[in-house]
Amino acid sequence: MLQGQSLADCLEPALRELADDRERGFCSELCYGFCRHYFQLRKLLQERLAKPLKKRDLDVEVILLLGLYQLIHTRVGDHAAVNESVRLLQRRGKGWARGLVNALLRGYLRDRGAGVVSDEFIEADSYPAWMQQRIRADWPERAEALFAAGNERAPMSLRVDSRRLSREQALRNLAGAGIEAEAHPLVENALLLVRPVPVDRLPGFSLGLLSVQDAAAQLAAPLLDCAPGQRVLDACAAPGGKTLHLLQQTPEIELLALDKDEQRLQRVRENLDRAGLSAELRAADAADVDAWHDGRSFDRILLDAPCSASGILRRHPDIKLLRKETDIAALARQQRRLLQALWPLLRPGGRLVYATCSIFLEENEQQIERFQRDHPDSVEVTPNAVQWGRSRPFGRQILTGDQAMDGFYYAVLEKAQAR
Ligand SMILES: C[S@@+](CC[C@H](N)C(=O)[O-])C[C@H]1O[C@@H](n2cnc3c(N)ncnc32)[C@H](O)[C@@H]1O
Repeated sequence: MLQGQSLADCLEPALRELADDRERGFCSELCYGFCRHYFQLRKLLQERLAKPLKKRDLDVEVILLLGLYQLIHTRVGDHAAVNESVRLLQRRGKGWARGLVNALLRGYLRDRGAGVVSDEFIEADSYPAWMQQRIRADWPERAEALFAAGNERAPMSLRVDSRRLSREQALRNLAGAGIEAEAHPLVENALLLVRPVPVDRLPGFSLGLLSVQDAAAQLAAPLLDCAPGQRVLDACAAPGGKTLHLLQQTPEIELLALDKDEQRLQRVRENLDRAGLSAELRAADAADVDAWHDGRSFDRILLDAPCSASGILRRHPDIKLLRKETDIAALARQQRRLLQALWPLLRPGGRLVYATCSIFLEENEQQIERFQRDHPDSVEVTPNAVQWGRSRPFGRQILTGDQAMDGFYYAVLEKAQAR
C-alpha cells in the first residue's frame, strides 16, 4: 500500500486535492489510524473471511479494513461507516463485493451487539509479530505499557527559542491566539498543546520563535553543551530540528551540518532560514570521512543516528508496516559504522552525543557498550542526576510516553585527554 514510501509523503499530494481542513483532517485520521491498527484489523479480517481475498482485490481488502477501523476506533456512526464502505466499492468498480462487505461489517456489528466480540482490544495486536517479540524481550516488565503508549496519538510539542522569548510569554501568545497549551513538566523550553494546530496558526512560528519538536528531542542540544567559538558537527542533521536548536542555544558556534540525503538537507536550510540563522550544510555520507572532512577536529559531535524509529510509532504509525525485522541489524551496523568513523574526528576532551528515537537495546545501550569496549579512550558522562528517562547500564532511555515524551535514547561520551 505504501510501497516503501512514508505515509506523510504519500498523503501530502492527496490532501492538497481535498476541499477543506475538515475533509483533510478526516482523511488524515483515517490513514494514520489505519496504519496504527493495521495488524489488529488484519487479524480480525482474517478470522472473519471464509477464504483470503485475491491479490488483485487489495482495494476490497483495504475498504474492509477501513470499515472495521471506523467501527472499532472512531465515532463515525456504524451505518454511515458501512454505507460509505459500499459506496467506495462501487467507485472502485468492485460492486461484486457488495454482499461480502455488507455481510462482514454487519456481521461484526451483530456479534459486538450480542457480546460475542468485545469492545476491548489487545494493544499488542496492533504491532507486527516481530516487533511484539522484540519489545517483550527488551522490556519484559514494560511491554504492555509500551504497546499501549505506541498506539496513542502523540501530543503536539513545541520548543520556545528561550533567547528571544520566555516560555511564559509564549504561553500568553498562544492563549491570545486561542491555542491551549501548558509547560512541559521537565523540559525547560518545551510546551505541550492540548490539541494540535497547523503550524501557520502558531504565533511566532514563521520567525523561529517556536518550533515543533518533541520534548525528548529537545534534550540533545543541552547535552551537547556547546560553548561560543566551538567547532560542532551535526552528522545526521535533516530535517534540522536539532541543528536549529544548537544554533539558537549558542549562535556563536561554527556548525557543520551533514546529511546524506540532499533533498532532506533542504529542509535544514528552510528551518534555519525561518530563524535567520545559518550553518555550513553539506550532503555527504558522514561515515565517508575522506569525502568531506577538512582535517580539523571537532569540539562537539552530535550523532542523531538513523534508527528503527521504534520510539516514535505514535507519531509515525506507518513504521509498523514499513519496518522489517531484518532492518534492525542493518541499522545497528550503520550506527556502528558512523560511530567508528566520527570518533577520530573528536578532539581529546571533546564530547559526542549519540542519540536515537528507538527503544530497542540493540541500537542503544548494546551499541554503546560495544563501542566503549572497542574504544578505551571513550568515557561515558551521560548525566544521572536528571529526572527524565531511566538510567541504563550505558546511556539513558526514555520509553515512549514517559513524561509525555517520545521514546528516545541518549549516551554522552567524552574523549579522554591524551597523557
Ligand atoms: C534521525 S534523522 C535525524 C534527525 C535530525 N537530527 C533532526 O533533529 O531533525 C537521521 C538522518 O540521518 C541521515 N543519514 C542516514 N545515514 C547517514 C549517513 N551515513 N551520513 C549522513 N546522514 C545520514 C538520514 O538522511 C536522516 O535525515
